[in-house]
Amino acid sequence: MLRYLTAGESHGEALIGIVEGMPAGVPLTAEAINHHLARRWLGFGRGGRAKLERDKIHIYSGVRFSKTIAGPIALRLDNAAYTRDRAGWPSVMAVDGTGEGVARITLPRPGHADLVGVQKYGFDDIRPVIERASARETAMRVACCTIARLLLKQFGIEVGSHVLRIGQVGFEGPEDWRARVDALAAQGGAEAVSRLADKSAVRMIDEALTAACVEHIKATKRQRDSLGGAYEVLVTGVPPGLGSYVHWERRLSGQLAQAVLSIQAQKAVEIGDGIDGARTPGSRVHDPIYREESGAYRRHSNNAGGIEGGISTGMPIIVRGFMKPIPTLVQPLGSVDLATGVPQLSRYERSDITSVQAASTVAESTVAFVIANAFLEKYGGDSLEEIQEHYASV
Ligand SMILES: Cc1cc2nc3c(=O)[nH]c(=O)nc-3n(C[C@H](O)[C@H](O)[C@H](O)COP(=O)(O)O)c2cc1C
Repeated sequence: MLRYLTAGESHGEALIGIVEGMPAGVPLTAEAINHHLARRWLGFGRGGRAKLERDKIHIYSGVRFSKTIAGPIALRLDNAAYTRDRAGWPSVMAVDGTGEGVARITLPRPGHADLVGVQKYGFDDIRPVIERASARETAMRVACCTIARLLLKQFGIEVGSHVLRIGQVGFEGPEDWRARVDALAAQGGAEAVSRLADKSAVRMIDEALTAACVEHIKATKRQRDSLGGAYEVLVTGVPPGLGSYVHWERRLSGQLAQAVLSIQAQKAVEIGDGIDGARTPGSRVHDPIYREESGAYRRHSNNAGGIEGGISTGMPIIVRGFMKPIPTLVQPLGSVDLATGVPQLSRYERSDITSVQAASTVAESTVAFVIANAFLEKYGGDSLEEIQEHYASV
């Protein structure tokens, strides 16, 4: 089983990650991880933090001569704010000492983890909540999950994504993008979709919509507000048979939904045309089956998003994620000071107007991890060579 664990606070010295269960012989370089880390902070509407984060991964173990050696892979990412911001973070986030003289934060932001975090852990200061609930943690997730992505790549499985909507501006329905995305993926795999999306300031594959979204973000900034949105993650080259219907936790659809909803601020997930399907008769939803001359079974359409019975069908896997608007608003909302009990408007910290573009790349990563884990469950072995033999024999 493939596992990963992240540690670290947003303004602590570093983020730490450990990936466990990777077979030996998988090509892995810091460069490949840095590429996906850089994709995470691109995007119009991201705040000052994005400019500060020039992430460079340090690999400490589990890799020798650019290949995995089966041991746990330990990773470190320095926090730019801690090392370069020079805003006193070393004392605010000091591991030792008593914290005397460090100002407490006591005004919770609606929509953030501030109030629930303090209530749950009994803090008298919101700082520790902000530090670990922050989406800075997703940088290390991207790093860990990129390793899974590199394993998939060895078997021609690619993961890509593109943004569908930012706030009120975006594609209306799958008919607006499906054909374009499917054509790109058929020619160049899911990464071809990402390559095109990465060229857009908002990771959209449509130039006119990109321009409209940029204007929408600018106008929202002027109104001192924030935006959410939606994106699509696509996985191509997936063989049939990953996941299972025999136990609830082995359903691939459930694992994917969990992986996407585990990302900060993600509020809904759709597999294939799940939402439209709920209001359409079955005869127009279910994908008719046919048999190719080679004997392989295929489907004429892919409304199921590549999964039936919790098992991959062999068609591209399609997962859509929906993100709520960023909770930190320049325009404050009603709150209460936890130290005094006095009603007060919430506070502002450096923040994004929207982070849907970043969320789409983080979701790509977490989806890759789930697919890699299911792939190893079916074809697993101790080395890449052994897995290749298992894969070829099925
Ligand atoms: C990539 C990414 C960037 C984010 N950036 C911010 C931000 O700049 N400011 C903010 O208030 N929330 C931001 N969020 C959202 C918060 O992390 C999230 O709303 C908060 O942790 C509470 O968790 P919940 O929304 O899942 O309930 C971001 C989320 C993601 C995925």
